[in-house]
Amino acid sequence: MRIRSPLPPDRDAIAALIGRGPFRPEEISCALDLLDAALGRADSYEALIVEDPALVAYVCFGATPMTQATFDVYWIMVATDAQGRGLGRALLAETERVLMARGAATIRIETSSLEGQGGAVRFYERAGFSRVGLIEDFYRPGDDLVTLAKRLQ
Ligand SMILES: CC(C)(COP(=O)(O)OP(=O)(O)OC[C@H]1O[C@@H](n2cnc3c(N)ncnc32)[C@H](O)[C@@H]1OP(=O)(O)O)[C@@H](O)C(=O)NCCC(=O)NCCS
Repeated sequence: MRIRSPLPPDRDAIAALIGRGPFRPEEISCALDLLDAALGRADSYEALIVEDPALVAYVCFGATPMTQATFDVYWIMVATDAQGRGLGRALLAETERVLMARGAATIRIETSSLEGQGGAVRFYERAGFSRVGLIEDFYRPGDDLVTLAKRLQ
C-alpha cells in the first residue's frame, strides 16, 4: 500500500473511482472540480491517493480561506471492494500528518448526515473528529449538514 500525491496522468483513474462512489451527479461534478483544482496545483486544493497496487482511495483537502491554520478535508473515498480494511483511516491519518508538518491547528469536515447511512460521520468520529455543528435539512428534508472538527496537537 502506497500513499502519494496524484499527478495529471492519474486524473482518469481518480475520476472513475469517484464515479463509482455513492454520490449524486451534483456531488460528482463538485468532486471533479476539486480534483482538477488539486491537479492544477491551485493553492487551496491538494490531494492524496492510495495504491494497493491499483488506485483504491482518494482524499482532497486544502487551506480554509480567511483562517490562519485551519484546513478542510473536502472529500475522501475508498473503493467499495477495499472498504473496511483501514485504508480510509490510513489516508486520513496521512492527511493529518502532512497538515501538521505544515503547522495546521484545526481540520474541519462538512458532510451529509445520510452519507453512507450515517457511516461517514461514524468514520470521522472514530478518527478523533467531534461533531461541532448541525444544520437540519441542509441538503434536502431529512438530510442534515454535519460539521466535524479536530484540533491537531
Ligand atoms: C467512509 C469511508 C471513507 C471509510 O473508509 P474505510 O477504509 O472503509 O474505513 P476504515 O476501514 O479505515 O475504518 C476506520 C474506522 O471507521 C469505521 N467505519 C468506517 N466506515 C464505517 C461505516 N460506514 N459505518 C460505521 N463505521 C465505519 C470502521 O468501523 C473503523 O472503526 P474502528 O476504529 O472501530 O475500527 C468509505 O467507506 C467510503 O469511501 N465511503 C463512501 C464515500 C464516503 O462516504 N465518504 C465520506 C464522505 S465524503
